Amino acid sequence: MLNYKDQYSKYLEYFNQQLDFAVKSFCDAPELLKNAMEYAVLDGGKRIRPVLLLATADMLGVDFDDVKEFAVAIECVHSYSLVHDDLPAMDNDDYRRGKLSTHKKFGEAFGILAGDGLLNFAFEYALSKKTFNEHDGRALSYLANCSGSLGMIAGQVLDLENEKSETVSEEILYKIYENKTAKLIMAPIMIASILSGNREYDKLYEFSYNLGVMFQISDDILDVEGDIETIGKTPNKDAQSGKLTAIKVFGLEGAKARKQRHYDKCINALDGIKNNEFLVELTNAMFTRKK
Ligand code: IPE
Ligand code: IPE
Ligand code: MG
Ligand code: MG
Ligand code: MG
Repeated sequence: MLNYKDQYSKYLEYFNQQLDFAVKSFCDAPELLKNAMEYAVLDGGKRIRPVLLLATADMLGVDFDDVKEFAVAIECVHSYSLVHDDLPAMDNDDYRRGKLSTHKKFGEAFGILAGDGLLNFAFEYALSKKTFNEHDGRALSYLANCSGSLGMIAGQVLDLENEKSETVSEEILYKIYENKTAKLIMAPIMIASILSGNREYDKLYEFSYNLGVMFQISDDILDVEGDIETIGKTPNKDAQSGKLTAIKVFGLEGAKARKQRHYDKCINALDGIKNNEFLVELTNAMFTRKK
């Protein structure tokens, strides 16, 4: 078995080939839109969501051929969410993935339209699977639910509504976390389970929820402790915008303790799943991540 880093690189290489192939379909789109969509999706990201999908599929014995369109779809949905998140009407961020954010580079209208384009493409591409069966239908519906107005979009609404709010509520913080972030981390993992015929569904549900919450706590901590070169986006934005973050609710040390609590829950949830080594290592890497 490959060590964690080599295995991650292997998943990444496979995914990048799939994505490069997929974006060829943008070629008939209007030139500036195509450029903006490619700019938004092609480089700089960690690709944690497609890697989670491939790794979970591997663990459950599902062929990559059966999941590759979904891996592309989830990264397109995620990249669209970042493009829109950075817009002036939302977080108003100038940098993303170590370069200018999409609307800074192409203008606001193209930020909006490139996001719209990536979202639609995600579903079109998943539906282009050669044999689209009942499991695929359930998986795609899962993705739509996680990304839609009962999922990521709902989380973004709550995130904006609670900017500068006087109320510092743990309950609202968790609602924001679950929706804006955890659901798009849960989707790739649960899609792999659905495509395997629901193998390890409950344990993976518990694992992926806690991984998602841990991931956003780290993001909030990195906003405070990270530097622009490493995180690839402007630090100290959350406090400036008055965001409801783990630091605001628990303090910096309290947020770190929360992160530890969710890490422990991830590891416990993976216990007893066969071939879980890569996901355990990935959880460790997400726990200590600096970007
Ligand atoms: C950033 O996600 C947005 C959050 C949900 C915290 P990532 O940290 O996965 O961003 P990329 O894809 O690596 O740029
Ligand atoms: C974003 O949360 C979650 C999304 C749905 C994109 P943040 O607003 O904290 O993400 P960053 O810090 O801009 O990446
Ligand atoms: Mg945001
Ligand atoms: Mg943001
Ligand atoms: Mg953030």
